[in-house]
Amino acid sequence: MKKLNVAIIGLGYIGESHIEAVHRLGFCNLYGVFDANMETAKAKAEYYGIPKCYNSIDELLADPNVDAVHNCTPTMLHHKINCQILEAGKHLFSEKPLCTTKAEAEELIQVKAKHPELAAAVNFNYRMNPLVGEMKARIEAGEIGDVRIMQGSYLQDWLLYDTDYSWRLEKAVSGDSCAIADIGSHWMDAVQYVTGHKIVKVLADVETVIPVRKKPTKANLTFTSVVPTDFEEVQVENEDYAAVLFKTDKGARGVFCVSELCAGHGCYLNFEIDGSKAAFMWNQEENDRLWVGSRNGDNSLIIRNPNSLSPSAKEFTSLAKGHPEGWNDAFKGNMWAFYKFIDGGLQGTPCFATLEDAAHLVALTEAILLSSKEERWVEVK
Ligand SMILES: NC(=O)c1ccc[n+]([C@@H]2O[C@H](COP(=O)([O-])OP(=O)(O)OC[C@H]3O[C@@H](n4cnc5c(N)ncnc54)[C@H](O)[C@@H]3O)[C@@H](O)[C@H]2O)c1
Repeated sequence: MKKLNVAIIGLGYIGESHIEAVHRLGFCNLYGVFDANMETAKAKAEYYGIPKCYNSIDELLADPNVDAVHNCTPTMLHHKINCQILEAGKHLFSEKPLCTTKAEAEELIQVKAKHPELAAAVNFNYRMNPLVGEMKARIEAGEIGDVRIMQGSYLQDWLLYDTDYSWRLEKAVSGDSCAIADIGSHWMDAVQYVTGHKIVKVLADVETVIPVRKKPTKANLTFTSVVPTDFEEVQVENEDYAAVLFKTDKGARGVFCVSELCAGHGCYLNFEIDGSKAAFMWNQEENDRLWVGSRNGDNSLIIRNPNSLSPSAKEFTSLAKGHPEGWNDAFKGNMWAFYKFIDGGLQGTPCFATLEDAAHLVALTEAILLSSKEERWVEVK
């Protein structure tokens, strides 16, 4: 495998996870970084021994030594920077959500079409949990019969109090959505990935349960629970709760709820797929287990075991059973899939989320917001 030089833009909460994952890949060089906060960028470059710390995005993209760029900036910046990365002839690994509007997504897909020599992925990393892959392989093999119902939630508690704040609540930085774009997109990607169904119709109830929050005058890092002493009270623009009914292109139905107001839940991404013969349920807080529901026999648990996983799921596990794997490992797995795809000459259907997959999720987010606003079913084109 040729060692590719990787650069990362945006070194906040998720940027740091990208640094660690790229280091763990082994077959990529973490070559350079840029963050709008130069102090952060310099400190992280030094701490992690990254050779280059650029002064601007333009400088980073003009460096012929950089082969691939990870975009880990806040959502509103994804579109512009993603276009720049592809136009500069670099492979693109973008954070989710892809962008904030369907029109932006379509524009990026057009830019990508002019660069068939480049790969582009969006970081819907839950796909690469070995037992999510196992669920997909077994559904494809017909183990639960026809998929009829999909249900679940993605619950967090980091916006529980009115003293909690994030740029995700602001339209100017996050686009028109917080909970749906941030965590609902992960839920929808995961269920569409495992079932092969596409969500095509939605009926939603979207709400900003905490309408006024105390915004700290100095921004804090995502997911930290520091009570600000210096703040201003602001009207919240984006939702912290949503419930969605949906229908799929293959005739299944589903329902899910997302919120950051559910005390005790860190990252409770869970989904159950109910088929005509059996059911599967997975929850990322106990990610080494896959629940199998039976009508007449005993229910059972599949515990991650590299020796018995399906070949496609086995690719994303490395530790022996009993040594728990987790979020970081699946996160690294998504990058591994991306760089392996590049190394293989961009052949075949990638298992990571493509720009088209991510564009559909942006369209779904728009449809969910519209459905709630107009109190009606909305079809997703
Ligand atoms: N895949 C996942 O599971 C996952 C998890 C968390 C966040 N994310 C995504 O990652 C993105 C970033 O989220 P975060 O939580 O890391 O945010 P964050 O606020 O912690 O970090 C954002 C970083 O981008 C930097 N930045 C801002 N403007 C910039 C610019 N113009 N150029 C360069 N750097 C700039 C900031 O200084 C900051 O360091 C979001 O789109 C979010 O949806 C994905």
